[in-house]
Amino acid sequence: MVAFQTGLANGPRIATYLLGGKTHFAPDREAAERLRDALPTISAVARADREFTERAIRDAAEDGITQFLDLGCGLPHPRNVHDVAGAVTPGARTVYVDHDELVLVHGRAMLEIPGVTAVVPGDIRDPQSILEQPALRALLDLSQPVTVLLTGVVPFVEDPAAILVNLRGHLAPGSRIVISSACSDLMTDDELTATQKVFAETATPIHPCSSDAIVALFDGLDLLDPGVAKVHRWRPSHDLFFGPCPILGGVATLPAAAHTSREPALGCRSARAGADRPGVAPTGLRPILPAPRQDTPFRAGDLR
Ligand SMILES: C[S@@+](CC[C@H](N)C(=O)[O-])C[C@H]1O[C@@H](n2cnc3c(N)ncnc32)[C@H](O)[C@@H]1O
Repeated sequence: MVAFQTGLANGPRIATYLLGGKTHFAPDREAAERLRDALPTISAVARADREFTERAIRDAAEDGITQFLDLGCGLPHPRNVHDVAGAVTPGARTVYVDHDELVLVHGRAMLEIPGVTAVVPGDIRDPQSILEQPALRALLDLSQPVTVLLTGVVPFVEDPAAILVNLRGHLAPGSRIVISSACSDLMTDDELTATQKVFAETATPIHPCSSDAIVALFDGLDLLDPGVAKVHRWRPSHDLFFGPCPILGGVATLPAAAHTSREPALGCRSARAGADRPGVAPTGLRPILPAPRQDTPFRAGDLR
């Protein structure tokens, strides 16, 4: 559990500051502004990440999935998972999970609706203990498909691949996994170094992931079109403009065979593509991974 303290910046409060939210303190704002110095488009990128998440939720709801599990949910948003899913399917159920004390307090106050949502404490590195919680079981039927969201949380854990392997062993076929993650090889060396330095001085250091490592998180799953893409390019709903976007997103479904699979964990620690995954090929996936820094052509409004 990440205890509440105002003297040290932390990930969820930095994220909400960058998105225009209200729950942050001076160290969070200072850290966020140092991130903005390194990545001037960071607020637009954070919004694009959120919009990707909303599109993925809407698609899942339109495809008939009525259960949602938001792992590393962060502070409440203007449109939360149950708002987006519920607009498609009234009564769709959502369980929000986080390990940050302040996130849980705000979540319980603002997101809990009996019979519709629950906010539960949990560390995503131990999916089983999350899935066993009575409050979760009261809302989610794990014998039926669930959409599991891991958006913006991957860089905060050292071995996300192990989490994915563990998690999917508990999910029903047809369940959907939504992932977005900052990607180290879509940043310049200066951007990456500055970002790591800022987070190293917070309560929540990060472990940047390469594009190969992010794609590998979907190993063994059926990746939906268009594959792994920069978040603003994943099924865009309107004519998006954008500058360099270092966040990749993808959505996949769990095939029947994946339900019981327990494969060895793959690391996701390296800051550069492929460095920690010898011999691991993203078989069966359809990644759309532009070569680093080849950000053309962008439409009018390109931010830099
Ligand atoms: C950048 S925020 C992303 C919030 C939200 N998912 C979104 O897409 O806007 C990352 C969240 O993950 C949470 N988190 C990080 N590591 C975690 C862990 N091991 N277990 C549970 N939550 C975690 C943080 O507390 C934070 O709320």
